[in-house]
Amino acid sequence: MTDRTASTPLVTVSDLHKTFHISRPPREVLRGVSLTVGRGEFVAVMGPSGCGKSTLLHAIGGLEPPDRGTVAVDGQDLHSLDDERLSAFRRDRIGFVFQRFNLISSLTAAENIALPLRLRGRASRPGRTAVMERVSALMDSLSLHRLQGHGPEETSGGEQQRVAIARALAANPVLILADEPTGNLDWSTGHEVMWLISKLCRSEGRSTVLVTHDARIAAYADRVLVMKDGTLVEEVVLDHRADTEGRPPVAGPLIARLADLEL
Ligand SMILES: Nc1ncnc2c1ncn2[C@@H]1O[C@H](COP(=O)(O)OP(=O)(O)OP(=O)(O)O)[C@@H](O)[C@H]1O
Ligand SMILES: [Mg+2]
Repeated sequence: MTDRTASTPLVTVSDLHKTFHISRPPREVLRGVSLTVGRGEFVAVMGPSGCGKSTLLHAIGGLEPPDRGTVAVDGQDLHSLDDERLSAFRRDRIGFVFQRFNLISSLTAAENIALPLRLRGRASRPGRTAVMERVSALMDSLSLHRLQGHGPEETSGGEQQRVAIARALAANPVLILADEPTGNLDWSTGHEVMWLISKLCRSEGRSTVLVTHDARIAAYADRVLVMKDGTLVEEVVLDHRADTEGRPPVAGPLIARLADLEL
């Protein structure tokens, strides 16, 4: 049975290794990565382009099998599941937001957001009214109501990313994995999205792992892991006690710390 006590990490990654063999010599992208993410904890991963951040996120989400090492989410060893069970686990427990939005162009914004709920197994699939209520609440909280009947091609990049974030949250995942989720948003919209994600983490016990190049975005996290050449080289714990409700967190100390690392 799954242990749900607060002290048990939601995510436990042990000694992950991954090599891609498409180049010569093969590229060792993850070189022994271990980390834990607590329940309700918000962890950001930063590091230079190509250091393996997206590959790590994909391995945590069960999208990329590691060569060696394990990933456990909510007590489940992901990479020991067969394809069908792994897909069901991802669908019901993990919300993904990618660098590219990956919205389905033939569906409207509301239909894209509703998709994870409609794809659920019969036993846990909510009824039509419950789906509409959930979609409506998410569209409200991400200021998307104007887009209700619009498809992705009729909306801006920033709007598409907000739809993708709403879709990731739709099924109430225990874990949100986000790869540069604010990369296409202006600062004010990005701040609103980060505020929502960090609030969901803290108040609803959801955990988040977010990859970003922007220290102002990473500053929302409880902890920032710094990656270099396929390993984690530094951890920065952030203190949010002085934050004012609704205002962006102070990023100065994190930026200074990152500058010291000379990545
Ligand atoms: N599916 C793949 N097949 C082959 N090589 C890959 C694959 N995915 C990633 N790589 C390579 O692995 C390395 C790390 O890629 P990754 O996408 O994890 O980096 P990243 O830290 O996310 O970079 P960025 O900040 O630019 O997004 C890169 O050299 C990339 O070309
Ligand atoms: Mg990446």
